[in-house]
Amino acid sequence: MGRLEGKVAVISGAARGQGRAHAETLAREGADIVAFDICAPLRHPLHPGATEEDLAETALLVEKQGRKCLTAKVDARDLPALKELADRAVVELGGIDILVVNHGIWSVSPNSWELPEDDWDESISVLLTGAWKTTTAFIPKIIAGGKGGAVVVTGSTNAVQPQPSAVSYTAAKHGLMGLMKTLAVELGEYNIRVNAVNPAAIHTPMVFEGGTLERALEFRPEYIGHARNVIPMPDGDGWASPQRVADAVVWLVSDEAKYITGVMLPVDGGWAMS
Ligand SMILES: NC(=O)c1ccc[n+]([C@@H]2O[C@H](COP(=O)([O-])OP(=O)(O)OC[C@H]3O[C@@H](n4cnc5c(N)ncnc54)[C@H](O)[C@@H]3O)[C@@H](O)[C@H]2O)c1
Repeated sequence: MGRLEGKVAVISGAARGQGRAHAETLAREGADIVAFDICAPLRHPLHPGATEEDLAETALLVEKQGRKCLTAKVDARDLPALKELADRAVVELGGIDILVVNHGIWSVSPNSWELPEDDWDESISVLLTGAWKTTTAFIPKIIAGGKGGAVVVTGSTNAVQPQPSAVSYTAAKHGLMGLMKTLAVELGEYNIRVNAVNPAAIHTPMVFEGGTLERALEFRPEYIGHARNVIPMPDGDGWASPQRVADAVVWLVSDEAKYITGVMLPVDGGWAMS
């Protein structure tokens, strides 16, 4: 029997990358999945947008585990659409137990004061306001289930350390930790735990497609280069597989982490030590 048998898990940004790994991994442990994604390019990031085909591929991987997958093309900035999806999830899958707020974008500029205003606005609205809207739409359903539950937000190393050249990303991820900690306190009485995973360098399209990494290296070679050389780990060239993060998420939402809430868990091969 899997660790999440009989549970329903909602995952944002589930079309590809870490979100897809979370969907497949939680399904392997017995959870039915609600996988949503904007499935479109954003305005400012260089990395390409995920597609509806990507999201369909995630659903296929979940179904291969013998679990149900409800998919939806929804923008995490669209609260009415999120609430509609939450209602659908309860009707079609019987309730919600787990929420993984994973969606994200990454944009860079040479210095903070050189970032265009609407680039700042987009990052903050996706990464921070979109996370608040996602929790606002789905948490009432977890509370209503009356069985407790678990929420994980995906921060970053940059939720606790600055990334010069990525001010909006760094500021939003720091803010996300404030959201996580506030929810952890508020939801304790409902037996709902709220934690964060803070990955470092993970091999996904955000980093490896479109040229953001190259730009970041150009702006701050000393800083970004350092990210790949912290402690030699046997998982690629310092760029870990999304599975490493999924392994941490599945543990955090399982009963094995029953007494863990309000934690920022680095999943970073030791980066946070440096
Ligand atoms: N890749 C890394 O090195 C790294 C490191 C630390 C943290 N992170 C974080 O991990 C999370 C997952 O990113 P990833 O590495 O899998 O990148 P990714 O680009 O492969 O996946 C991000 C997904 O989020 C979706 N998304 C973006 N904006 C959205 C919105 N408004 N509404 C719904 N979906 C939206 C995208 O379409 C995409 O499918 C992000 O929060 C990211 O900031 C990534």
